[in-house]
Amino acid sequence: MDKQNLVSGMRSTGKLHLGHYMGVITNWVKLQEDYNCFYFVADWHALTTKYDNTDTLRQDKIDVVLDWLACGIDPNKSTIYFQSKVLQIAELHILLSMITPQNWVERDPTLKDMVKIIRNKDEENNENIPQLNYGLLGYPVLMSADIMALNAQIVPVGVDQLAHLEITRDIARRFNNIYKTELFNEPKPKLTEIPLLIGVDGQKMGKSFQNDIKISDDENTTSKKIMQCITDRSRARKDDPGHPEQCEVAFKYYQAFADSETVNQVKCECKAGQRGCADCKRQLGKIINNKFAPIRQKREEYAKDINKVYDIINDGSKKAANEAESIMKKVRDAVNI
Ligand code: TRP
Ligand code: SF4
Repeated sequence: MDKQNLVSGMRSTGKLHLGHYMGVITNWVKLQEDYNCFYFVADWHALTTKYDNTDTLRQDKIDVVLDWLACGIDPNKSTIYFQSKVLQIAELHILLSMITPQNWVERDPTLKDMVKIIRNKDEENNENIPQLNYGLLGYPVLMSADIMALNAQIVPVGVDQLAHLEITRDIARRFNNIYKTELFNEPKPKLTEIPLLIGVDGQKMGKSFQNDIKISDDENTTSKKIMQCITDRSRARKDDPGHPEQCEVAFKYYQAFADSETVNQVKCECKAGQRGCADCKRQLGKIINNKFAPIRQKREEYAKDINKVYDIINDGSKKAANEAESIMKKVRDAVNI
């Protein structure tokens, strides 16, 4: 049986952090074995909010792909591309926008959240979306075009994207109804099970909060950032018994990155007051650096051979465009355009 098509994308936010690694990329790497995977950098989506700040866009896009390749997204297994190189997506976006009711996009809760973040407004009463650009309003329609241009059955996403995907399913159903066809699947979300990694300060990990550790950070930077991790706040001296379950960040990182034997040892020694937090974090820094050493080395090798990376992206973009074109032929027929 043919493998099902799977599509997922990331906006071009620049270098990725360990939260992306644990939450998304390891999952993508596994999925390569079971699905026909299409992974793309959503550069048009990036423009929906950063349209007036594009100086770093090209570098950001390539940084994302470098991180993917370093972490094991394999161009021989998966199709890697830039959204903006697959023009069929833009064409489908126009056709889908013709059949998408305005209130479907206005109701989108994820979009409301995004608008709040952009405007830096935290007021509760945002029933109405404040003044926003047409392109941003179309965010879920463009995302639907990404998915439907490849007629994907499966879309791995985080919970924050579920509302968007629900709109995609509605749009696919509506297209099929209006044009009396069964062309489109209703794509299913595949939720990432791995809990999101928090930042060194205990808040959500993110570049804008400056609490993240990048996949591409060097060992020294990583060690320094790990030393900033919050531990058990109730602990005053290093021979006081600690509470790993109240150790806000450091122990969580152990659970994410260390083997179970080490995790157990840390737990016992911490509880018995046999392990100081500074030493504990020094060890943690080493564990993380060891884990990422081969990934960082691979990233550097790709970065030195950047033309090869552009070749991978160009090939992937052509492949995605070919696949999308064969679907678009049927779409044009269905619409009679
Ligand atoms: N909106 C997604 C995010 O912000 C990125 C994205 C764009 C996407 N198009 C997609 C994800 C299509 C999955 C499928 O994370
Ligand atoms: Fe956390 Fe380690 Fe300190 Fe225990 S010893 S509180 S696990 S950092």
